[in-house]
Formats: sequence, structure tokens, C-alpha cells
Amino acid sequence: MRMSAPIWQSGSLAKPLRIGSVQLETNLLLAPIAGYCDLAFRTVCREWGGVGLACTDLLSPQGLLRGSASSLDLAKTNDFDKPVGMQLYGSDPEIMAAGARWAVEHGATVIDINMGCPVDKVTKKDGGSALLTNLDRAVGIAKRVREELDRMPLSAEEWRRRMGVGAKGRGSEGAREGQKEIGNAGLPPPSLPRSLAPSLTPGPVPLTCKMRICWHNADFEAGTQCSPHLARMLADVGVAAVTVHGRTTEMKFSGVVQLAGIKRVVDEVNGVIPVIGNGDVKTPQDAERMLRETGCDGVMIGRAALTEPWLFRSVWHYLQTGEEIRQPSLEEKIATIRRYFRLMQEHRDDRYAIWQIQRRISWFAKKMAVKLPDGRMESVKPFKEAMRTTKTPAEVEACLDVFVSGGLRGGAEAEEEVGSEA
Ligand SMILES: Cc1cc2nc3c(=O)[nH]c(=O)nc-3n(C[C@H](O)[C@H](O)[C@H](O)COP(=O)(O)O)c2cc1C
Repeated sequence: MRMSAPIWQSGSLAKPLRIGSVQLETNLLLAPIAGYCDLAFRTVCREWGGVGLACTDLLSPQGLLRGSASSLDLAKTNDFDKPVGMQLYGSDPEIMAAGARWAVEHGATVIDINMGCPVDKVTKKDGGSALLTNLDRAVGIAKRVREELDRMPLSAEEWRRRMGVGAKGRGSEGAREGQKEIGNAGLPPPSLPRSLAPSLTPGPVPLTCKMRICWHNADFEAGTQCSPHLARMLADVGVAAVTVHGRTTEMKFSGVVQLAGIKRVVDEVNGVIPVIGNGDVKTPQDAERMLRETGCDGVMIGRAALTEPWLFRSVWHYLQTGEEIRQPSLEEKIATIRRYFRLMQEHRDDRYAIWQIQRRISWFAKKMAVKLPDGRMESVKPFKEAMRTTKTPAEVEACLDVFVSGGLRGGAEAEEEVGSEA
């Protein structure tokens, strides 16, 4: 479908992002979502194409340093999962620096510091968005982590690995190859730039920070320059990019994302470092609006990708051409769920894979209801319920088979609340 605004004529919004020395293939990033954006999920999104950078969920440096099984599992990556950011949270500069060292030694392409998490467990220890109330501490952590990263430059050969050069599935041809694995070979290949040579110059790993616009709603309304000042100070100590989730800490995940809050940061840093906008991007048009109205350089997408792992490809295509790419068929959507399940079996085990698929099925199935000839939506509730009672991998596979061949549907479709833990 052609849109009225001719954004594709200049292609100005489809500018691949550069973070320090790291040249990404697009300006679209997969957000960290604790408990959801694991290696299997990042792989599925990357196989669809359009992901410039994906990030691990927030990692505890203490957990990494003492080798806690859950932290090591969250930090798991591989050669295909590149470039990858590893996100650390905490408030002690020395521990954060040691965590950053660990992350670089274990495959990170970019280190990110969490300055936006609103969860009590994190903020009560002065980490996450509590750093928005103590800008000196936030900058001190970034400065110390930056120093540590400068002490461990990577070789050109190591940069090749960190950028995924040569890994299966890189570039247009490779992405097509990856797509075959998830059963959507019928779609045209994603239009990723072929000409971009990733940065292979020896040098240190870039540091980024992810923040909210400020803690209190009243401060934002009064025009207090919390995140703009913080972003500026972070740039001064060598932070290569900032991501701004356009909500205050008080808002948690409710209310409407404030594009004006993101724009204030863009205006303040004035091109010194890139600003990545984040929050409520669910469609290519949402991404275009965020880029256009805030002037930000990239867009990070979280929850919408849990329903549409192919969203990055759709957004990138739209930003480049102004046209909407064909959406995956039901078969392709089910193949994506199957792919995620099998990857999870490989990375962990059957029991964990079943648990994950059951807790995610509402996200995956959110847009699978189809319109009946009389205009009503046909419910997929029986499918979700059947999936939640599966006990073996064979039952999961059978459930997907039955659904794709037309079964496990019926009744009135009611909107189900998903992701309530947010
Ligand atoms: C369940 C959940 C877990 C999250 N975990 C993290 C996290 O580990 N680190 C982080 O920086 N942000 C985290 N976020 C925030 C997201 O990265 C993102 O900023 C937010 O969801 C807004 O973007 P979206 O509307 O595209 O989802 C989380 C959000 C949710 C809903």
C-alpha cells in the first residue's frame, strides 16, 4: 500500500545506525525484555531480518562474576547472535566495570548500562532508573566502565566475530538461508544494505546507556531536563549512544509514550551521539512517526516483537520504500513458533522449552485471530488453552500441526491481557 508521505524518495529515515566504531546494518534494535529476549528469541528475530542490534536482558554483574547458572544462561550468545549488546545493571562503578570486562570476554559487541528499570528490586539498590535521581553517580559508573573497556581493545579478527562476519545467516543471502529454517522461504528476502562493511578496525567495545525520560511525572511536565542533561554528560565521558524509553519511572508501562521527552534528549545532544527512541512502536508507521517527530537516529522495539518477530523486517522495508511488505502467512507464523520452540530445546531442555512456549503463547497468538465472513473475529482461545496443557514436545508439535490445519478455533474472541508482569 502506498502512503501519502513520500519518505521513501529520500530514504532519509532508513539510515543504518553507527554506535561508536560499530556500523549496524539498520537503525532498528531489539529491546531487552527480562525473561523474553533470550538467545532463541533473538535468533528468530534476526532470521526474519531487519535487526541492527539485539540486546541481552538485564544482567547482574555479581551473578556473572560468581558464575551463577541463571546469569550465565541469560548472557548466552553465539556467532549468529551478532552484533549483540549485553546489558548490565547496578550502582557500584567497580562491580559494573568488572561485569563489563566479563561481558567483553564473553562475546559482547556493545555494553549497555540499564538506567531505566523501574522495578523495586533494582531501584532499591540504587540501580536502574534510580540513577535518574543521582546523575553524578550515573555518570561516574559510565566513566569507570568506559575506562575498563578502553583497557581491553579487540583485534580486527575478534571484531569480525563480534559483527557476525561469516556467520550463517549474515547479509541478504544468509538471511534468506535463515528464513528457510523457519519455513518462510516464500517471502522476498529482506532488503538489508549489502554495501555496508562492518567495522573491523581494532579498538574498544562501545558503551551505551538506556534510560527513561525522568523519575517523576511532575518533573517532566515542569520541563526538568533530567535525561537531556544526563545524555549530554554521558556523551562527555565517552558513551557512544543513548536509548530513551519515552516514559517516566512513575508511569512504569502505563500511559502514552512521550515523544516530546525523547525529542528533548535529541535536541540537547545535538548530534554529538546518536539517540535511540523507544516505547510503544507496534507498526512501521509508529517507527516512522517516532523518527520523524523526535529526530532520533534509531528505534528500539520490545513487546511488539514478541507478537511479530518479523516486525523489524517490515519496519525496515517500509522506511526504505514507503511500502508495506507482505505479512507472513499463518503457516509462516506457526513455523516461527516451532523454530523458537526447537531452538529453546537445543539451548536448554524440553521442560524449559515447554514452559517458555506456554508463557509466550498469548504473545505469539495475539494477531492470529482471523475475520469470519460475517465480520466477527474467530477466537484462537482453544489453541492457547491446548498449548498451555501440553506436557511433551510431541504434544506441542501436534498442537501446532492441528492449529495450522484449521483446528483449535472457535467462540467469541476477547482481548486477553498479556505481559502483566511488566
Ligand atoms: C516484561 C518486561 C521486561 C523488561 N526488561 C527490561 C530489561 O531487562 N532491560 C531494559 O532495559 N528494559 C526492559 N524492559 C523495558 C523495554 O526494554 C522497553 O523499554 C519497554 O518495554 C518499552 O518498549 P516497547 O513498548 O517497545 O516494549 C522490559 C519491559 C517489559 C515489559
